[in-house]
Amino acid sequence: MNQIFRMFFIIMVAVLLVFCSSLKAKKSLEDLRTAFNSESTSAEKYAKFGQAAMNEGYDTLAQLFIAVSKSERIHAMNFGKVIEKFGLDCGTPEIGNFEVKSTIENLRAGIRTETFEMQTVYPSFIRTAEREKTAEIARTFTWASNCEKKHLKFFRNAAIIIDRGSEKGIPNVWLVCSICGNIYSSIDLPVKCEYCLTKQENFIGYSRKSE
Ligand SMILES: [Fe+2]
Ligand SMILES: [Fe+2]
Repeated sequence: MNQIFRMFFIIMVAVLLVFCSSLKAKKSLEDLRTAFNSESTSAEKYAKFGQAAMNEGYDTLAQLFIAVSKSERIHAMNFGKVIEKFGLDCGTPEIGNFEVKSTIENLRAGIRTETFEMQTVYPSFIRTAEREKTAEIARTFTWASNCEKKHLKFFRNAAIIIDRGSEKGIPNVWLVCSICGNIYSSIDLPVKCEYCLTKQENFIGYSRKSE
């Protein structure tokens, strides 16, 4: 009987701790939900951009869109996991509206999205998470924010190359860290992920099918 009571007591304390931490992180949990939806939308959008690029004959650029789509998907999954750690149900993401236009326009749309997320959205989310003293949420937002910077850099470089009239010079192999979603081109591949220290062998590769 005593043992049953002790188990009940431990479970109640655990439930109370999760409840208290979710109260403390109230705004950050709302931000996580927003980010869960927006990263899921970005993942869908870039997958469609990748398909459109292939249809237009931009087979190399398509791999960048597909790798970035995977990166956004991993961010969304990580946000969902943290939401559930706080005892909430992350449910199914709400996918927002987006348009698929020409590949050049899609690339420019990607640059606008990444700039906004990197300069405005995540810095605000990180400040709130730090104010609410929720280190795990601050860390997952920081990983995502740093990845958005890299998405932006790769999209900008690709836009400069495409503006010259060909895809020549865009890397054709991309790797995505399976844990934090960080993205690398095969040209500057580290032994371990620079953010979460996952080994290179656990990265997921994307390259042109013809190669
Ligand atoms: Fe991104
Ligand atoms: Fe990583």
